Amino acid sequence: MDQFGNDTGEEREKFSGKLGFVLACVGSAIGLGNIWMFSWRLGQYGGGAFLVPYAIFVFTLGATGLMSEFSLGRVMQMGSLGGIKRIFKEKNLPLGTVLGSVPSLSVFGILVFYVIVVGWVLRYFFASLGNSFAGVESMPAYFAGFAGTWQSVPWHFLAMAVTVGIVILGVAKGIEKINKIIMPALFIIFIVLLVRSLTLTGAMEGIKYLLVPDWSHLAKPVTWIMALGQAFFTVSLNGAGMVVYGSYMKPDMDIPSSAMHTALFDTLAALLAAFIIIPAAFAFGLDPAAGPELLFITIPKIFNQMPGGYIFGAMFFASIIFAAVSSAINMLEAPSEALMVQFKLNRAKGVLITGCLAFVLGIPLATSMARFGAFADFITIYFAPLGAIIATVSYFWIYGTDRALNDINVGAKAPLGNWFKPFVKYVFTGVCVAVLLLGAFLGGIG
Ligand code: ALA
Repeated sequence: MDQFGNDTGEEREKFSGKLGFVLACVGSAIGLGNIWMFSWRLGQYGGGAFLVPYAIFVFTLGATGLMSEFSLGRVMQMGSLGGIKRIFKEKNLPLGTVLGSVPSLSVFGILVFYVIVVGWVLRYFFASLGNSFAGVESMPAYFAGFAGTWQSVPWHFLAMAVTVGIVILGVAKGIEKINKIIMPALFIIFIVLLVRSLTLTGAMEGIKYLLVPDWSHLAKPVTWIMALGQAFFTVSLNGAGMVVYGSYMKPDMDIPSSAMHTALFDTLAALLAAFIIIPAAFAFGLDPAAGPELLFITIPKIFNQMPGGYIFGAMFFASIIFAAVSSAINMLEAPSEALMVQFKLNRAKGVLITGCLAFVLGIPLATSMARFGAFADFITIYFAPLGAIIATVSYFWIYGTDRALNDINVGAKAPLGNWFKPFVKYVFTGVCVAVLLLGAFLGGIG
């Protein structure tokens, strides 16, 4: 029995300590959202003014979501499917397996399309290293020539193979070890690139674009809505990803502090990325777009124009590989663990089956940008927020806020007070529902 009354049977894998745990969560949180979405939104919605709603949301709601996911996993000693099933069973409620599957399936869906993008990044990394962007006349044509075609499939396969290769090694030997290397490496590369970008002639305009606050944007609901969507997506709230990492936490670890650290480092990475990308885009007279266009068209153009740019380009794409692979690892771990628990499989089988399935299902998306876009939208707009709602309602409404607060406070140096109970039950749950509805009406906010 552990201190939560679980009959642990065989020993569950664990992160070695807080550092390893937080770095793995930071790895999951820092991803493409930080790179291709945050910088654009920061400029688009009022520069420094956007930071106000973003910071409010990420450090209150984002951190609350992280705490609840970590805690659900830790107390149940299982990922989302196992944990939700157990809560439903305890209260004799039907549909535990069906509803409990939704968060894990949504993360599986994210994995299916996310790894395709990791494949594009891998290709761009090798292209930069070989200085092969130098002769490219049209970056849009270069990108369109392989993304959405069969040419991208070997890269897609490589990305999945790397992710499977890490996750199959296990929590401490695979997930924790790799994040302990690549997360510090990412920050070091970001700092080098920051210096390069800020010292470019003309960078000042970009800095102004990011920093000079246009407070009028705070009067527009869209600014707050986009900040909310950003805050949820950036810390990977989907009701499963952070639950599974929480289930590998040691019982004495501090959940509120781990959640705040995750949100903090994730925000820091987003800010660094913005201060690398936008000033450089301004220096070379390019439009800082959002989404794949920024990463795969605008950024190679920037490095093409910079003296010695291919070295910086290779460094940049290496850091994006680190950001994206560390997120993909979490996206593979969550559904694999659900499969392992549901069908009593060992890690190797669970991870291989999940990885192979995600790769095969991804092929139709990798070979058509239209299918890719439609699928990614469906998953991020409807499925992932639904997963977050199901986990939140299960934990706070069915399992109960009294017990949840106790669980969260185990090991906390600064325990949360009773105010947390109505806050999560009404405000946080309401916001999760709002994220789903707003995304559905506005065509995506995350
Ligand atoms: N949170 C991850 C990202 O920002 C998934 O891309």
